[in-house]
Amino acid sequence: KMKPFIDALMTRMTLEEKIGQLNLAATGFDVTGPVVNKDVRGSISQGRMGALLNPNTYAATHELQALALKTRLKIPLIFGYDVIHGYRTMFPMPLGLAATWDLSAIEQSARIAAEEAAAAGINWVYSPMVDIGRDPRWGRVVEGTGEDPYLGSRIAEAMVRGYQGPDNDMTKPARVMACLKHFALYGASEAGRDYNTTDMSRQRMFNEYLLPYQAAINAGVGSVMSSFNDINGRPATANRWLLTDLLRTQWGFQGFVATDYDAINELMAHGLGDEQQVTTLALKAGVDMDMVDEMFPKHLPGLLQSGRVTQAEIDQACRRVLEGKYRLGLFQDPYRGTSQKRATTTALKPEFLAASRDLARRSLVLLKNDKQTLPLKKSGTIALIGPLAQSQRDLIGSWSAAGDWKKAVSLEQGLRNVAGPAVKITYAKGTNLTDDRRLFEQLNSSGGQLTFDPRSAEEMIREAVQVAQQADIIVAAVGESAGMTGEATSRADLGLPGQQLALLKALKATGKPLVLVLMNGRPLTLSWEDQNADAILETWFAGSQGGSAIADVLFGAYNPAGKITMTFPRVLGQVPIYYNYKNTGRPALGDANDKYKSSYLDVPNSPLYPFGYGLSYTTFEYGKPELSTTTLKSGQGLELRVSVRNTGGYDGEEVAQLYLRDIVGSSTRPVKELKGFQKVLLKRGESQTLTFRLSPQDLKFYNDDLQFVAEPGAFQVFVGGNSRDVQHAAFTLE
Ligand code: IFM
Repeated sequence: KMKPFIDALMTRMTLEEKIGQLNLAATGFDVTGPVVNKDVRGSISQGRMGALLNPNTYAATHELQALALKTRLKIPLIFGYDVIHGYRTMFPMPLGLAATWDLSAIEQSARIAAEEAAAAGINWVYSPMVDIGRDPRWGRVVEGTGEDPYLGSRIAEAMVRGYQGPDNDMTKPARVMACLKHFALYGASEAGRDYNTTDMSRQRMFNEYLLPYQAAINAGVGSVMSSFNDINGRPATANRWLLTDLLRTQWGFQGFVATDYDAINELMAHGLGDEQQVTTLALKAGVDMDMVDEMFPKHLPGLLQSGRVTQAEIDQACRRVLEGKYRLGLFQDPYRGTSQKRATTTALKPEFLAASRDLARRSLVLLKNDKQTLPLKKSGTIALIGPLAQSQRDLIGSWSAAGDWKKAVSLEQGLRNVAGPAVKITYAKGTNLTDDRRLFEQLNSSGGQLTFDPRSAEEMIREAVQVAQQADIIVAAVGESAGMTGEATSRADLGLPGQQLALLKALKATGKPLVLVLMNGRPLTLSWEDQNADAILETWFAGSQGGSAIADVLFGAYNPAGKITMTFPRVLGQVPIYYNYKNTGRPALGDANDKYKSSYLDVPNSPLYPFGYGLSYTTFEYGKPELSTTTLKSGQGLELRVSVRNTGGYDGEEVAQLYLRDIVGSSTRPVKELKGFQKVLLKRGESQTLTFRLSPQDLKFYNDDLQFVAEPGAFQVFVGGNSRDVQHAAFTLE
């Protein structure tokens, strides 16, 4: 029914109304670029607006939709918003969500976000962000799922299902349209600097970086956002190969493409020409909707008149936007059943907050736990030290949508909730998060909650040491502020900011057991911390219920099972560092300075913590993997069986990971690639045999001619609790 409906509608539309559908303006706050739209209401009233970014309350969406419905053709608006990890109920940042390796829990978080957002009249969310992140200098790694294409693909599918529903029927009132971003390869920006250039071989694109985007397309994602970056000399927003040949012709994408904020305008700074030229390039490349910079409404009428763009190109973009509206059910009910009552009663439901706490617990990664320092005893005195110990704002992370940080549970509050009456908690701030006053002001002006303590670093550290000396154990809450991660937050130093390391050294000198609770949005360099702390818990930015979730883990109410999805380097010089690297012709096997091998003089190649790593309060032992066959015929799959035993003192969950290596090929292949994982709960002493299936597809890769092939020869398969500590077996493909 969609086609005749839109055909009929389009015959009634003027050129201005058609171009208006391609216009996406921002209102209100969250300005992430130089351009700000003016007279948005005027444009809506004249039928020259397709969608809005940022109105995010029932009152705002309702009022603006009513305005659109007063126009000649009454075409409803789409309301888009950065619902990235929750709308009112905030979940952990996506890098933390990924660390759960729990696809149904991740899907549930997207479903809850959709339900809350849709109730307020939002129908389009700028998520999932699936850019592969191998460079922790790039602040946006916190918005993605980490470095792995396979895990990233499964999470992308789960999130699309969560937002749009398993059947992709977006007319249902509690669903929203997802927007896959940032298409494409934004995560490979050189030197980890935001908005920077990407240059990559097609083979690497197809075998690694493009897979999660393709997975989301196959899952039926309704829209795509083009990225800011240059790709091999052609910025994504003007890249016809990317937005049309690959996305539509090869992958069969049916939805609409919007730009990122101001991205057509920025094509001029990229060096592609004047306003008319970049507008022409973007439309012809396959952009359907122009975010904020108003290049389409400003220039398309003239460009049509001069013959530089065609009516068919404008019609095509307009049709795709209208189809998006149709798929959302907006022509049937422009308000999608919203009401103030529904918005209020849907937000922050107790079961949503419980889901957020549960997910937060699952996202925490135990990086170190010497002498069973954790779980904490429910008696004695805990010195809670550090600039993040009392923060609520930082816990809900960046892109916190309509999340209210004042409702977030801080670590201090969480500890007090969970500790019980026999525990005394004392506190000292210990240091400011950063000494950089300018950065401090900036973080606060964009919604931070930090206060700058004017005392000298020495004085603050001295006070913290005194508090620590009176306690039985120290819990130090250190890391980054939420505003130091996300868009435009690249860092050239991956250590703890400011005087935090000096604080930790002073605390260590007290001789008291030292537990670090890290809050941060990227892998940090933690070599001193790893050698000197007794326990380290990575908590990312854990969301609305973060403090309680962290306390649950610290006191052992929940046994941690998260595993990192980005490799943690020893030192910054190892970056980019990732587990699925190529062997090279001179692989270094051990320590630093493996002369005339691919190594460094001063540091081993190996990371501090490998991809997939994370401890538990219990221990797991893997048996020898058994294969269903060791000689495989072309087109056949195989099974791997492995026993996993809980050998420690607690019930616990384990993420068993399956990796593959294609030993010999027509192209060089990575030393390991994740091909499967299973998360299992094992009671103390329990053993389970897990069965993994490798399909014929799993053995394939894109060769030099970009054909997707499996090549005969030897393969190795690995299984274990992280990408380093694995058991292996071998088979041959005939
Ligand atoms: O969705 C975001 C994108 O990730 C970065 N630029 C702004 C967009 C809309 O706010």
